[in-house]
Amino acid sequence: MIRFDTIVSLRQHLNTLRQHHTIGLIPTMGALHEGHITLIEKAKQENDVVVSSIFVNPVQFNNADDLARYPRTLEEDCQKLEAVGCDIVFTPSVHEMYPEPVALRLNFGELETIMEGAFRPGHFNGVGIVVAKLFNIIQPDRAYFGQKDLQQVAVIRRLIRDLSFPVELVRCPTIRETDGLAMSSRNRNLTSSEREQAISLFQALTMARELLTEGYTPEQTKAAVTGFFNDRVSFRLEYVEIVNADTLQIAGEVLAPGQTAICLAAHLGKVRLIDNLVF
Ligand code: PAF
Repeated sequence: MIRFDTIVSLRQHLNTLRQHHTIGLIPTMGALHEGHITLIEKAKQENDVVVSSIFVNPVQFNNADDLARYPRTLEEDCQKLEAVGCDIVFTPSVHEMYPEPVALRLNFGELETIMEGAFRPGHFNGVGIVVAKLFNIIQPDRAYFGQKDLQQVAVIRRLIRDLSFPVELVRCPTIRETDGLAMSSRNRNLTSSEREQAISLFQALTMARELLTEGYTPEQTKAAVTGFFNDRVSFRLEYVEIVNADTLQIAGEVLAPGQTAICLAAHLGKVRLIDNLVF
């Protein structure tokens, strides 16, 4: 695996490779887990060259503490990437990516008004900017994102469409621990007691799926999920929504199979967790 820290050196290397090889990109913020590894494995099956980036993007954090607490495990991450057969890792500094403050602002319309968009103002602007930069630098044929960040997938779909990036977006299933907790870099920040309780997110989602399947309305189901978390004092539920899995628009009823997503975010101690189920 070759590691690049600068845009110029990575571009030079890829310029020659690109003529005869397809490129798959897996953008990450590091603290890699099994979920990231499955993205790399899928990209390896579908592309000649696999590039992963590790960059904790300050522009997408709307909370300085959250940015400071974000786990950083660069050397361990590089070893994991090497072991899974990633060809290239891009590990730029903040100065390399943003030599001066970014003036550009991206607005994703309705996606900014619900769930992550509403509760993390400016977050998708930052995600859009860094992903657009990575697309421009690496010019991948395909880019891989996990379904755990379902709204991010919808944002990147818009980015690709609105800016005509010649990139195929590949949404990959959420990878879960054996008890159901969705894998996330933030799970590292849970205490052992919080880690045990964190399974409540998946339990709430499966309960909601059951209720919707039995004929409960989205409103009744959301009320049941709110009650579920009210009984668990360590949690502070931020939102639960039932939406169209592609557009992320609020769904007033259960949609066609594979089209309905139940999404939620909750605080457990100092850690904010998100998860979703598409059914
Ligand atoms: O999902 C993430 O880890 C980040 O939002 C991403 C896509 C790497 C952009 O910084």
